[in-house]
Amino acid sequence: MPLLRSQQSLTAYYTAALAIGDTTPENLQQAVTPEFMQLLATTSLTGSTRTALDIGYGAGAYAIALAQNGFEVQAVDRVAAELFTSRLPASDWAAHIRAVCSPIQHYPITEPVGVLVAKDVLHYLQRSDVYSVLDTAITVSVPGSCHYLQIFTDIDRTDPDGKPVGIEDELDSTTDQLITDLEQLYRGWSLHHTTTDHRESDRSTGRPYFHATKVTTIARRGNP
Ligand SMILES: C[S@@+](CC[C@H](N)C(=O)[O-])C[C@H]1O[C@@H](n2cnc3c(N)ncnc32)[C@H](O)[C@@H]1O
Repeated sequence: MPLLRSQQSLTAYYTAALAIGDTTPENLQQAVTPEFMQLLATTSLTGSTRTALDIGYGAGAYAIALAQNGFEVQAVDRVAAELFTSRLPASDWAAHIRAVCSPIQHYPITEPVGVLVAKDVLHYLQRSDVYSVLDTAITVSVPGSCHYLQIFTDIDRTDPDGKPVGIEDELDSTTDQLITDLEQLYRGWSLHHTTTDHRESDRSTGRPYFHATKVTTIARRGNP
């Protein structure tokens, strides 16, 4: 039976890290991936379809990249929005980011979505919430839209004594199960999955405490 950490402790952890600009062992302050910039460069979205939703935006690199590339961005995270908005410059692009403090599973996704980003966040949600959030996002996605997902699977997390640690209500999926579920959810879209081995270690002791597969999925909805 693993030790279970609460969702509140998770929010407290990210709040503390973001308040001091700490990068954390998972590299919370990292820049957006080249594949994401490539995805933005190849999207055919124009005009009122240049809308984006960034789920679990963290330090905000993806929300910023989207706004700087002409998107109207909704950015939703459990941490206080001021942690992000207070760091934004008074620039034209920053005015196009609307940051909201909410668990994504309680956030009404009603506006049309051109680009969806859900990077390193959906593994924290329970399975039914992951699929209902994605299903709703698919429903409101415009023709030509793309979804950029990075989701951890096969997670092995341990405490300093080597005991297994879980987070309450987390997805806890295998890679095969996740890919099967995504193929089902995104029927009719073009899907591309890649998997990489992911490890994190304690910065002071070097002790490895998180090992997982990172599944990256790029889903594109065709134009009719
Ligand atoms: C590992 S960080 C990822 C940040 C960012 N997406 C990136 O890749 O740089 C996870 C973020 O998801 C947020 N988060 C966790 N559970 C969430 C939920 N149920 N709804 C919204 N945000 C959540 C955390 O507060 C944290 O900011």
